[in-house]
Amino acid sequence: MQKNNISNHKNHPKAYIKTFGCQMNVNDSEYLFGQLKHLNYLITDNISDADLILLNSCCVRKNVEQKIYSLIGKIRKLKINNPDIKLGLCGCLAQKEKENIFKNTPSVDFLLGPSRINELEELIKKIEINNKKYLYCSHLPEFTLKNIPIKRNSHITALVQIMRGCNNYCSYCIVPYTRGPEQSREVGELLSEVKNLIKKGYKEIFLLGQNVNSYGQDFKKPVPFSELLKMIAKIDNIKRIRFMTSHPKDLSFDLIETIKNEKNICNHIHLPIQSGSDKVLSLMNRKYDTHRYKTIFNKIRNSIEKVSITTDIMVGFPGETDNDFNDTLTFFKEMEFDNMYSFLYSNRENTVSSLMPNQVPLSIKKERLWKLIDLQKIIATKINKRMEGQTVEVLVEGSSRKEIDGQLTGRTDTNKSVIFKGKKELKGNLVLVKVIESDAWTLFGELV
Ligand code: 5AD
Ligand code: SF4
Repeated sequence: MQKNNISNHKNHPKAYIKTFGCQMNVNDSEYLFGQLKHLNYLITDNISDADLILLNSCCVRKNVEQKIYSLIGKIRKLKINNPDIKLGLCGCLAQKEKENIFKNTPSVDFLLGPSRINELEELIKKIEINNKKYLYCSHLPEFTLKNIPIKRNSHITALVQIMRGCNNYCSYCIVPYTRGPEQSREVGELLSEVKNLIKKGYKEIFLLGQNVNSYGQDFKKPVPFSELLKMIAKIDNIKRIRFMTSHPKDLSFDLIETIKNEKNICNHIHLPIQSGSDKVLSLMNRKYDTHRYKTIFNKIRNSIEKVSITTDIMVGFPGETDNDFNDTLTFFKEMEFDNMYSFLYSNRENTVSSLMPNQVPLSIKKERLWKLIDLQKIIATKINKRMEGQTVEVLVEGSSRKEIDGQLTGRTDTNKSVIFKGKKELKGNLVLVKVIESDAWTLFGELV
C-alpha cells in the first residue's frame, strides 16, 4: 500500500536523519531535528518507515562519500515502492555536488548546504506546497543561529558553534569550498546561548569551529578567541568548557594563559599536526613547520599542569617518501601525544594536492598508517599507565557501552575516557575516581 504524501498527514509525518562526519555536523543535525520537531514531525530510527529522509553528509574523505552514495542507492529503491518519500541531502556533499546532483542522482529531492541548515523549516514548507526540487546552497553574509529550534542529543554536554567556515585552504582540504569563508557568531548571541544552557542544567559546553583560534577576526572590531573564552568562563555555574579545533599557526600564548588561569576550561588541546615532515607541511600549505609546532607544544606542556594534547595526522600525502614518514614517526616519539586521529590521505576533487605528482599507492599508505597506530598505542599506553593510582574528576556520561555490571563511563577534563562501577543516577555529575588500571584508550577506576 502506498503511503501518503508528507503534506497529506501533516500531523505526524515521520523523518529519519543520518549524520556523517564531524562534531559540527552532529550539531547541525541537532538543528535539523529541532526544526522538524517544530513542524510536528516524529523522528524514526527506521529508514523504511520515513516520509522524509535527511542525510547530513560529509565529503572530507572519499570513503565517507562512497558510503553516502551507497545509502542513496538504497533509498532510491525505497522510493520506487513509495514515490512520495522525500530525500534531502544536507551538509558538505550537498554543497560540493550542487551543480550536478539533480542530473546525476535524481532520487535526491532537495539540497541544503551547511550554511543553510537553519532554513530547513522554510524549505519543508515550500516542498509541502509544491513538488519542485530545491537547492539551498549559497553562503549567507552573516552567521546566526538565533531562534532556530534545536533538539540536542545530550543533556550533559552542549555543542555550540562559535564560527563556521575556514580561510586556510590547506592544499588537501575541501572544507573551505564546502563551508565557505570564516564567519563568527556575535559575542552577545553566544553568551546568552551558553547562559541558557547552564540554566537548563548543562555541565559541559563544547565550543566548535574549524579553526577556533581565528574566532572574531572577521568582526569590524575583532574579538580574540581567548577573550570570548574568558567571558564564557565567568558565567555562573559553568563546570566545563571545551573547544575544538585549534590551528597551530594561530594558537596564541594568551590562549594558553587563559586555559591555565580559568579553572573551568578543560586542560585539553586538540592541535592537528598533519605531518612530521617540514617538506610535507609546506606542500600541505599549513603555514607552520615542526619547529614552530614544537615551540607551541612545549609552551602548552610547561604552562598548563596535567594538560593533554591530541592531534590529527595524515599519511600518504602526495610526495611523502619513506624518509618523510620516518620524520613523522620520530616526531611522534618525541612529542608523545595523548591521542591521535589518523587518516589515509584522500584525494579530493579541485583541491591543490589532487593535482600534485607522486601520489602514494594505497598499500603504502595503509602500511604507514599501521606503523603509526602501533607506535601511538605504545605511547598512549605509557601515558595512561602513569595515571594509575591518581584520583581524577570525571563527568559521568552514562552507562558504559557494554553495560556490564553497573559500569559507568565518563571523561576527565583532559578528555580521557574512564570506566568505573556506580549507580546510573550519577549520570551528569562530576565525581572523583581513583584510576586502578589502564590501556591505550581507557582508564579503569573506582569511585572515591
Ligand atoms: N584526506 C585525509 N584526511 C583529511 N583531513 C582533511 N582533509 C583530508 C583529506 N583530503 C583530515 C585532517 C583534518 C581532519 C578533520 O580530517 O587531518 O584535521
Ligand atoms: Fe581544512 Fe585546513 Fe581549514 Fe582544517 S584548517 S578545515 S584542514 S583547510
